[in-house]
Amino acid sequence: MSVMEKTASEKAIELENKYGAHNYHPLPVVLSKGEGVYVWDVEGKKYYDFLSAYSAVNQGHCHPTIVEAVTKQSNTLALTSRAFHNDVLGKYEKFACEFFGFDKLLPMNTGAEAVETALKICRKWAYEKKGLDENEAEIIVCANNFHGRTTTIISFSNDPVARKNFGPYTKGFIKIEYDNLEALEQHLESNKNIAGFLVEPIQGEAGVYVPSEGYLSKAKALCEKHNVLFIADEVQTGIARTGRLLAIDHENVKADLLILGKALSGGAYPVSAVLADDNIMEVIQPGNHGSTFGGNPVAAAVAMAALSVVRDENLAENAEKLGKIFRSELNKFIETSAIASLVRGKGLLNAVVINDSEDSDTAWNICLKLRDNGLLAKPTHGNIIRFAPPLVMNEEQLMDCISIIINTFKEFEK
Ligand SMILES: Cc1ncc(COP(=O)(O)O)c(C=O)c1O
Repeated sequence: MSVMEKTASEKAIELENKYGAHNYHPLPVVLSKGEGVYVWDVEGKKYYDFLSAYSAVNQGHCHPTIVEAVTKQSNTLALTSRAFHNDVLGKYEKFACEFFGFDKLLPMNTGAEAVETALKICRKWAYEKKGLDENEAEIIVCANNFHGRTTTIISFSNDPVARKNFGPYTKGFIKIEYDNLEALEQHLESNKNIAGFLVEPIQGEAGVYVPSEGYLSKAKALCEKHNVLFIADEVQTGIARTGRLLAIDHENVKADLLILGKALSGGAYPVSAVLADDNIMEVIQPGNHGSTFGGNPVAAAVAMAALSVVRDENLAENAEKLGKIFRSELNKFIETSAIASLVRGKGLLNAVVINDSEDSDTAWNICLKLRDNGLLAKPTHGNIIRFAPPLVMNEEQLMDCISIIINTFKEFEK
């Protein structure tokens, strides 16, 4: 190769930079193949994937059962729109409702759309069932939340980069501190217009913040007391990621509105959903809400396959077991480490806090080094690295990854 000739990776990155909007800051690695817990770059280098497309690929890359569902259904019937019925949607809705224990499902495509859907259902329920005056409903959200990128959702974000210059913002949201029951109670007691409480059971994007034990069950009890809907955004934490089917299962909580996305398709297709019981979902009538692609036959077939894999391969149990090993091994290292100060998480949704200032680029540099050492991870906000491999990982692979991570951290010890 001559000095001037570009690598395949450089060429791919150059194309994205020139022709794509710069709305992401990816780690410089260009992937072209995935299988199970591994991905390969265009030069053929193999990596452990420790991000799993932000927990969409819980079932592992290109899981054969899911790939078969995509290809078979794509070859049969891909899209009808909801103008007509299709012969897969009802089967999927029944399957998913029984799987998660709800009466009804409303199918959408992306996580943000499902969050929007839940907010709309919540408001409509508040006017039609709870009896609030029109346009008065308010929904309580948590500081440092991440629920997606639509105009309404960023209206209640407190990330300046996500918000600045996208106003005017949508009204009707009250932001309280995460993991603060007193703040929740105070608003519920003093404000009769509260329709819902929207919460991530673990704040993933913010840096994998796990709330105190009992927070979710007590928050649910407060919501019940005040006739307010408990809305769980399980887009990132759901579908076995945290060692249970849902993260709220750790506290035996049932959400009034359950929001799912990402791993609902195992990463093979954009599939999201809101689940609720009849007394809530019945407020949605023809014309109130929808999406051309939501509930299409491919999405329905893929989601059934993806959920079957989670159940048949005991992915929640595996995440629970491997997560304990991950945190225990990392904790042993952290005891004597100057570069890593904390590991936290549940199941296989974990983060390591890097011992440097929030605006330093140490976490980013560690991720570059991890890449060189064969493992892909990405910083979340600040100096925090999220570690979230596919849940089909085995113990031997995990131990291999732990030594890559620890050896890489050691290269940064002062
Ligand atoms: C908790 C949570 N909600 C919603 C979303 C938005 O999902 P999507 O990117 O599919 O719109 C995400 C994405 O990371 C998320 O983590």
